[in-house]
Amino acid sequence: MKKFDILVVGELNVDLILNRIERTPEVGKEVLAEDMALTLGSSSAIFASNASTLGSNVAFVGRVGADSFGDLVIASLKSKGVATQFIRQSTQHSTGATIVLNFDQDRAMVTYPGAMRHLVEQDVSEELLLQSRHLHVSSVFLQTGIRSNLVSLFKRAKALGLSTSIDPQWDPAEQWDLPLQHLLPHVDFFLPNVTELLALTKTRSLHEALATQLSAPCVVVKAGDAGAYLWHNQQLLHQAPFLNTHVVDSIGAGDSFDAGFVHKFLTGGSLPECLEFGALTGAINTTRPGGTGAFGNLEIVKEIARTTFNYTF
Ligand SMILES: Nc1ncnc2c1ncn2[C@@H]1O[C@H](COP(=O)(O)OP(=O)(O)O)[C@@H](O)[C@H]1O
Ligand SMILES: [Mg+2]
Repeated sequence: MKKFDILVVGELNVDLILNRIERTPEVGKEVLAEDMALTLGSSSAIFASNASTLGSNVAFVGRVGADSFGDLVIASLKSKGVATQFIRQSTQHSTGATIVLNFDQDRAMVTYPGAMRHLVEQDVSEELLLQSRHLHVSSVFLQTGIRSNLVSLFKRAKALGLSTSIDPQWDPAEQWDLPLQHLLPHVDFFLPNVTELLALTKTRSLHEALATQLSAPCVVVKAGDAGAYLWHNQQLLHQAPFLNTHVVDSIGAGDSFDAGFVHKFLTGGSLPECLEFGALTGAINTTRPGGTGAFGNLEIVKEIARTTFNYTF
C-alpha cells in the first residue's frame, strides 16, 4: 500500500486579487479598487487542493519563503488535507505572488515567481516517489529549476512504477521550448489546453497538432466551454461540456479538470470516464469564484454536481 495517491511537484504562490477597479491604472497615477482578496494561488496548489477534496491522498513538494505568504500557502493546503511536510520554507527567497487586476471578464496579472524557481529535481527524493502512486507536474514554464531536469524526473517516476501527468500551462516568455519528444514517452497523461498545445507544436489546428506524433500514450486537450478531447491509440474522443448557465469565472478550471481526471483514473475509471469526470469538475470550478471556491468539501462538490449539472456521484 502506498502512502500517497498523488505527488504534486509544483509552484506555490499567493494571489492578491483586486476587484471593482475604477479605471485602467496608468504609470504615475493612482486608482482605487473597491474589493480585495488574498488567497492561495498557483495552478499546482489548486490541483492539489481539489484532488484532495475529491478524495485522493495528496502530498506536495514545493518551495516557499519563510514569510507570512508562505505560512498562508501552507496553512491553506493543510486545511484541504494536503500533506505539506515536503514543502521547504527558506529565508533565502520570498514566496511568490500574483497581483490580479480584475476588469469584468478580463484581468491583468503580474507575477513575482520568488521561491518557486528554486525548486529542483533533487528536492524530490526516491523515497517519496516510492511512497506515491502518481506524479503530477504543472506550470513548467514558471519553474525554471524543475524544468531543466523535467525529463529525468519523469523517467525516475516511471522507473519506480508511478503513473504520470503534466499540465504545461502558459509560457509567459512565449518561447514554448519544451523537449516534447524526450518528455512525452514518460508522461501517461499530457494535459494542455488547446492554445498551449498549438503553441507547443507550432501548429494551427487540433488535428494538425495531433498529427505531429505526440508520443504520450494519452493526450487530453481542454477547450473551455467547448469541452475537452482525448487522443489515444490514434483515436479522438470529444467530451461535450457540462452546460453551465451560471459561470462566475473560469480561474483554475483547467486545474480542476486535471484533478477530476487524475482522481477518476486512480480510482479505477476508464479513459472516457476520466474525461467525463474532468469535464464535470472543470465545469463545477466555474460556478464559484476562483479555483477552489467550489471545492470547499466533497459534499459541496456533490451538491453542485447534482443541482447544477444533474449528475450524481
Ligand atoms: N464555461 C464552461 N462551461 C462548462 N465547462 C467548462 C467551462 N469552462 C471550462 N469548462 C470545463 O473545464 C475544462 C478546463 O477549462 P479550460 O478553460 O479549457 O482550461 P484551462 O484553464 O487550462 O485553459 C474544459 O475542458 C471544460 O470541460
Ligand atoms: Mg490550464
